Amino acid sequence: MDQSKEIYAARVRSLAPAEEPERQYYFIDVMRSILAEKAAQAGRSLTMNVVTFGCQMNAKDSETLTGILSAIGYEDSDSEDADLVLYNTCTVRENANSRVYGRIGYLGNRKKKNPDKRIILCGCMMQEPQAVEKIRKSYRFVDVIFGTHNIYKLAELLFEREVQGSLVVDVWDQASGIVEDLPRRNKYGFKAGINIMYGCNNFCSYCIVPYVRGRERSRSAEDIVAEARHLAENGVREVMLLGQNVNSYGKNTPEGISFAQLLHRVSEVEGIRRIRFMTPHPKDLSDELIAEIASNDKVCKHVHLPLQSGSSRILKAMNRHYTKEQYLALVDRIKERIPGVAVTTDIIVGFPGETEEDFEETVDVVRKAGFMAAYTFLYSKRTGTPAATMENQVPDDIAGERFKRLLTAVGEVSAKQAEAYAGATEDVLCEEYKAEEELMTGRLDNNLLVHFPAEKSLLGEIVKVELTTCKGFYYLGKLCRSK
Ligand code: SAH
Ligand code: SF4
Ligand code: F3S
Repeated sequence: MDQSKEIYAARVRSLAPAEEPERQYYFIDVMRSILAEKAAQAGRSLTMNVVTFGCQMNAKDSETLTGILSAIGYEDSDSEDADLVLYNTCTVRENANSRVYGRIGYLGNRKKKNPDKRIILCGCMMQEPQAVEKIRKSYRFVDVIFGTHNIYKLAELLFEREVQGSLVVDVWDQASGIVEDLPRRNKYGFKAGINIMYGCNNFCSYCIVPYVRGRERSRSAEDIVAEARHLAENGVREVMLLGQNVNSYGKNTPEGISFAQLLHRVSEVEGIRRIRFMTPHPKDLSDELIAEIASNDKVCKHVHLPLQSGSSRILKAMNRHYTKEQYLALVDRIKERIPGVAVTTDIIVGFPGETEEDFEETVDVVRKAGFMAAYTFLYSKRTGTPAATMENQVPDDIAGERFKRLLTAVGEVSAKQAEAYAGATEDVLCEEYKAEEELMTGRLDNNLLVHFPAEKSLLGEIVKVELTTCKGFYYLGKLCRSK
């Protein structure tokens, strides 16, 4: 760093408040002036492109990241030619990583044309030291790397990059506390996710999430309800409460309330019409929660209940803490007590040691549980997890062949579940509009999708739609009347 820059940087840092989020608002202001200067020099406004990989947790973080960037003054762009490109990465499966590396290489080429381009990498993959090492070595044009625990520091890290002139890396092993009240930009306007907790303590033996997201931390119910109220006041109709295992919500919070009680509190927020949540773990889904879903009109009749495997032996090796029988009994209880509920799931094929018999147990559960949908994954070895060093890793060709058979079973079962709604008229939240076809895509309370001709102005409204033609896992329908 040259001396004048160093003096400037020291002065800026010395004036920064120590408290969060005030500190970040200060750096947002600093970056806003720096950006305005650059824009004046370029004779145009500068643009950003935020790309999110992975789950809803990352999508939610991206709303904060986008909020910070837009407060700094970046304008939206759909193109990776933007002046700032941010990748919020996922590392839950190997193919997630490979895709990211390929795309970073591409960004490097674009940067040759625009040397002042900023390339920012964050998210779960950056929590892995080997990924950061690889980027330091092979992708030296990257500007800023940070992890999952300090996304709130984006503005400060961008400032450090400006004064330092080279790659800034700031990845923490663990969280330092939850920073509330950052700028945030909600992608949809009528629906939004709300983090109710961060991290995971379950350590399923295949899963990298506890290592990259850290230990479980719940937000206070007061903050969650305040966020729901704020969203509702800004037109949000549907909220999704997010956590890796929502059933363990509430530990170490001032209120100490259960997840079912939290659902109830959120449902009291005026203006919120639908509440979804993800993900409850089958090992500790309470009767209290089932009763709340059943009795509360605002809580969607949809339970996403990850099975992972139908074999009790494999479930034990996965450290899931339930058996095939307990899982099936839970699904029965849910279906019995919540009329019209849809149960969906996640399944992993080819976990180490999985035999043909184990796999058949999984298919058996798929048939018996009657899933409305199942997301199926080929087991992916994650370095650092216990399963990575287990013997009897299943050869790719066998896993691939099982995967295909599972897809067929899932297709049959979910089509049968979906068909049961043929001819029904249901409440549908209008979520996406395709102008070319003049088609609206909406979602039923139970998460089923329906496409129907409608006006764009209905986006965000809840309307009545007749489900006319079942297309497997979705419907074609007809709008009955608005509201
Ligand atoms: N907390 C949630 C899911 C988090 S990850 C839960 O407990 O279910 C989302 C899904 O990715 C998991 O449900 C699992 O099916 C899948 N997954 C996680 N690790 C995986 C791995 N190593 N290989 C393949 N799929 C995996
Ligand atoms: Fe991963 Fe298991 Fe935690 Fe879900 S509950 S995030 S699968 S360790
Ligand atoms: Fe989600 Fe992927 Fe991270 S699934 S928690 S973004 S590893």
